Amino acid sequence: MDRILVTGGTGYIGSHTVVELINNGFKVVIVDNLSNSNIEVLDGITQITGTKPDFEKFDLCDRQKVIQLFEKYNDIKAIIHFAALKAVGESVEMPLSYYHNNLESLINLLIAMEKFGHPGLVFSSSCTVYGQPDELPVTEKAPIKKAMSPYGNTKQICEEIIGDAIQANNKLKAISLRYFNPIGAHKSALIGELPIGVPLNLVPFVTQAVAGIREKLRVFGNDYNTPDGTAVRDYINIVDLAKAHVVAVKRMLNGLNKNNLEVFNLGTGRGVSVLEIIDTFEKATGKKVNYEIVDRRQGDVEMVYADTSFANKELGWKAEISLEETLASAWEWEKYIRNKMNKSK
Ligand code: NAD
Ligand code: WQD
Repeated sequence: MDRILVTGGTGYIGSHTVVELINNGFKVVIVDNLSNSNIEVLDGITQITGTKPDFEKFDLCDRQKVIQLFEKYNDIKAIIHFAALKAVGESVEMPLSYYHNNLESLINLLIAMEKFGHPGLVFSSSCTVYGQPDELPVTEKAPIKKAMSPYGNTKQICEEIIGDAIQANNKLKAISLRYFNPIGAHKSALIGELPIGVPLNLVPFVTQAVAGIREKLRVFGNDYNTPDGTAVRDYINIVDLAKAHVVAVKRMLNGLNKNNLEVFNLGTGRGVSVLEIIDTFEKATGKKVNYEIVDRRQGDVEMVYADTSFANKELGWKAEISLEETLASAWEWEKYIRNKMNKSK
């Protein structure tokens, strides 16, 4: 059984990916400092898979601890690096924390990869690197636009750091996955997205508004140049996204990479507006979403969705789960986690 190191593995995307890795016969060690996740996520993973992954709690910015991790687990065959700070607005307030956390953790991993025999790296990148693309759907070849936030800039710089490291050392291999908008939860409702405080992202806000925790959803702008005036994104089911990581890891382990650095868009290829999300959520759950239209949110792009043909062809992977099922899963998770929280009060 090959061992995969999953950094940020108790986080939203990490936890769903750990489930898929275990289901595909991989052994997993998670490193997470729990700065944006909860240790109880491990119970959810264990309940779903029947296997408890190894877990190490520390900050990846601590280089000594990263080195010690590779000494302890000398069977690591590949790394999936999810761990990062990810709140766009917060990154504007605390840019240095974002640069420190997101860059230093990656550099430490790359140093350890060189020191301990070059396993491959799968890196969590983002469609944010494209900004507002000139052409849609956006392909991996589209120019990288000046980042609109320090967070976005960390993703651009991290991709450059990986590229430079590979340029200097042809034994290193990496796959950078540019996620569009991951939403929803595992169908068991035992793991999902748990934002701390007021959700910044659309779908967690919708589910909390419907659960009565938030008064009403504010739709940021209906004067965009889009079919219904609200902004358009490419919402991808979290389990579909997680599965793409398993494919990427297998591709590297089987030596199928065509280049030492590969970049793939992970989306559905379909643009969906905010009002369509509300409408589909209502149809999928039978629940009414209270909302009001307010001004645009500063820094939002009008419309972005992926050209997924490269990922579909090269990875043999495709997003499959419908938007309706995805939004229903987000609602099931919201009910489960609220119930659990209320019981523990
Ligand atoms: P998340 O916050 O749920 O998970 C990240 C995890 O990393 C958390 O559990 C956190 O505690 C941990 N972490 C952060 N810094 C760490 C450090 N220095 N040492 C150890 N652990 C640390 O976020 P997510 O939504 O699962 O995102 C995972 C990755 O995907 C991130 O790199 C994010 O930038 C990227 N991404 C996310 C989205 C999205 O919409 N969720 C979109 C594009 C890209
Ligand atoms: C989606 C749409 C909002 C909340 C962010 C990051 C990006 C990436 C994914 C990491 C937009 C609208 C939202 C609300 C609303 N993350 N909205 N009311 O902005 O596409 O991307 O997450 O890499 O970097 O910027 O996602 O979910 O915040 O917004 O109307 O309360 O919903 O304006 O059009 P976004 P989102």
